Formats: sequence, structure tokens, C-alpha cells
Amino acid sequence: MKRYRIRRAGPLRGRLRVPGDKSIGHRALIFAALARGRSTITGLSAGLDNRATAEAFRAMGVGVAIDGSTAVVDGVGLTGLGMPQRVVDCGNSGTTMRLLAGLLSAQRFGTRMVGDASLTRRPMGRVIEPLRARGAHIAGSAPGPNVKAGASSDELYPPISIAPLVEGEQLRGIEYEMPVASAQVKSCLLLSGLYAAGPTAIHEPVLSRDHTERMMIALGVPLATQGSMAVLDPNADWPHGWDPFDWEVPGDPSSAAFLIAAALMVPGSGLQIEGVGANPTRTGFFDALRAMGAPVQTTPKGFAAGDEPIAEHAVAQGAVHGRVVGGELLVRMIDEVPVLCALAAVATGRTEIRDAAELRVKESDRIAVMARALADFGCNVEELPDGLIIEGGATLHAARVRSHGDHRIAMSAALLGMVADGETIVDDVECVETSFPGFAGLLRRLGASVDEEEVAS
Ligand code: S3P
Repeated sequence: MKRYRIRRAGPLRGRLRVPGDKSIGHRALIFAALARGRSTITGLSAGLDNRATAEAFRAMGVGVAIDGSTAVVDGVGLTGLGMPQRVVDCGNSGTTMRLLAGLLSAQRFGTRMVGDASLTRRPMGRVIEPLRARGAHIAGSAPGPNVKAGASSDELYPPISIAPLVEGEQLRGIEYEMPVASAQVKSCLLLSGLYAAGPTAIHEPVLSRDHTERMMIALGVPLATQGSMAVLDPNADWPHGWDPFDWEVPGDPSSAAFLIAAALMVPGSGLQIEGVGANPTRTGFFDALRAMGAPVQTTPKGFAAGDEPIAEHAVAQGAVHGRVVGGELLVRMIDEVPVLCALAAVATGRTEIRDAAELRVKESDRIAVMARALADFGCNVEELPDGLIIEGGATLHAARVRSHGDHRIAMSAALLGMVADGETIVDDVECVETSFPGFAGLLRRLGASVDEEEVAS
């Protein structure tokens, strides 16, 4: 098992890039696998989550050659996937499982998908139910022993089994009002909608990340969007497929968020981060920072991967003021809440995070786990059903924190350790490899004291 040993150090200074965007990487691999011919994806993260998606397509007969951050994918067309030669192991990746559930429900072969202990605790009814409503033969599992007490016994969890559609069977069109904004559920239904007999019309309460829609439109799929509505009509006049492409994946704004927060927290720091994805459905954290008075400058730098805006950020350490964060801003920064919590601990005044109940079903219960971690560092924090109230400005003391198998908890705790008195230990940090391989090494190069140790488990 791996852990971080962290001491206060700094300042953090330098110009850098972060690994490729995880969400865009998954989708680029999916659309490349379904293209007619060879695509090249550059800037792909070496993180394990994107690797799980690549491996799933290999198991279905798609050639995926990865060299560093470049993937060459020999796409087989919309109808060319083969029955997986093994169980599809999605590892820690909810996006792999939920998006592939949609794609694989439309095939004439069966599949079984499994995940690690953290993924096996995550609810899958949100994709299984609407897929069944459109005619898919998909089943989830009852909650296993590691699903937390109090979770609904009606909910379905991994492993997921999908039986093939038989000759003459096809998924139906669907009009679906999503109860919760979720790009994974939306993308699952849009991918299955490519194969359906009628249109797929989806309405979200708030627009979630729209990478799938942007890519589909860039590839000529007959998809129309308006606000938080998306309609895909597979019967429109289109070639029922797309040509291969060369796309560059922008840097992950969710990873950049950790470095930006670190620079704001550690005295004397100054960082420039190049090539970061700036899709407006992902920039809530940056908007929240500006509203908190943080000295972050953002310069637009064109587009990448289909139609994804990119930007460069420059940040220096500076005063940050607590504020209330919720509503649509929260949806646009859903993965950045743990790091916002770390920053809130050193901000002046109170930060109140609301409308974040979804955080309880991420890689860990991020509300409970972050509340506990903040308290362990000496921060005054109150846990709410849908968020947290954090009083900034307390003197932080070193703590020993467990990641709970959640990469964003491990990295947020590391940041708190970087400004606390004494030596902090963060246990069980292998999970950081899912989204931000090289995180600790990068921090060290920038001036932090974050050592990685292998310990007997
Ligand atoms: C993702 C969507 C979000 C996000 C996750 C990645 C995606 O999840 O939290 O890290 O790539 O579609 P939800 O769709 O569950 O909100």
C-alpha cells in the first residue's frame, strides 16, 4: 500500500501542464473505437480510468495501441464491436461502466461488467432503469456487504450483466426527464440512442458536462441541443457512422484545480498552467474562485478535441474569502468540491457548500469523508445532508487521513498537509493514479514536500 508523507514547504513555482481530461479521454476512446478506421488521440491521460475504457474496447476486438499519451485506435464502425473475450473490468471508473452500459445494451452480444470495491458501492439504477425502459436486457446486483448502511435496498449496484438483443429486436426511442444532472447518465442514453429505432430526448435539471454532445455534433451525429435538452434522432438523414479523427485531449481542469488551490494556499507561490480544458460546463470552480477574490487569471487559447475550449491559468498565492456555493455553479464544479473544501479551510470567513448531495455517491461519500478530514486537521466544519459549512482561518495541525480509495480525497488531504503544522500522513493513495498519475512528483518539482512511501498493507 502507498502513502504520502507531507511537510509544510514551498513556495510552489513553475509553468506546467496537467494530464489529459479524464472525461474527454473516455469519450475520445469510445468515439474512436466506433469510427470507421484509424484515429489518433494525443494528450490522453495515463490514468487508470482511461486505461480501463481502452482495455474494454480491446476485449471487444478494437485495436488500441497506447504509447505515452498517444493512442492509435483502429475503429470498427458502429456495428463492428465483438463479444468481449472476458469480463469487462471497469476498475474504479464509474464513467467507463455507465457509458459502456448504454453502448453495450444496444449490441447483439452479452456483457458482464465489474468494478473495484469503490465502484461496487456506486448506484447503477440511474442507468439501468432508463435503459430497461427503452428495451435493454440489463441487470444490476443487490447491494453487497460493503455498501454503506442506510443505502436503499431497492438500488442496483455492479456487477452489471447485459443480455444480447435478439434478431429483430432494437432499443426504442425514449423521452427522459433526468431526476439529477449527470453527464454519465446522459451520455449512456445518447450512446444507446445511436442504435435506437426512434429519437432519444433528454432533459436535465441543470446542464451537466456536455463533452458527449460536442463530440457527437463534431462527428456529424444528428443531435440537437438547447439549454439542458438534447435530442438525437437516428432516423435523420446521416451516414450512420463517422470518419476517424485526430484529436488532442486538453489538460484536465479537475486536476488543474488541485494545483491552483495549492498555489493559493502556500505562501509565496506562483504557477502558470497551460492547455487546460475550459468547457463552460466544467469551469464552476474557476468561477467560484473569482467570486472568492482569488487572484487567478485565465487566458483563452483556442479549441481542442472536436469543439472543446482550452485556456491558460496564472495564479499567485493570495487572500481568498469564503462564500456560499450551490445551484448550477455546483453542477459545473461537482468534482472540485473536495479541493474547494481544502481551500475553504485557509480562506477568511465561512464557506457554505449546498446542493451537493450527489457527492455522497462518488468514489467515496465525499461530504462525510471531507468533513472528517477537515476536522482531523483542526478545522471547524459542519456536515449537512447536501453539503458542508467550513469556518476558514483556523490553525491547521498535521493529521493522519485515509483516502477511502478516493483520488480526490487523497489529493485534497495532501493540500491540507502542505499548510498544516507538523507531518501529515495520507494513507492508501494508489487511487490518485486513476486521474492524476505523477501528482506527488509534480508537487515536489514545484517545491512541495510530498514523499511517497510503500508500506506493507
Ligand atoms: C463524469 C461525470 C460526473 C463526474 C465524473 C465524470 C463524466 O459524474 O463526477 O467524475 O465523465 O461523465 P455524474 O455524471 O455522476 O455527475
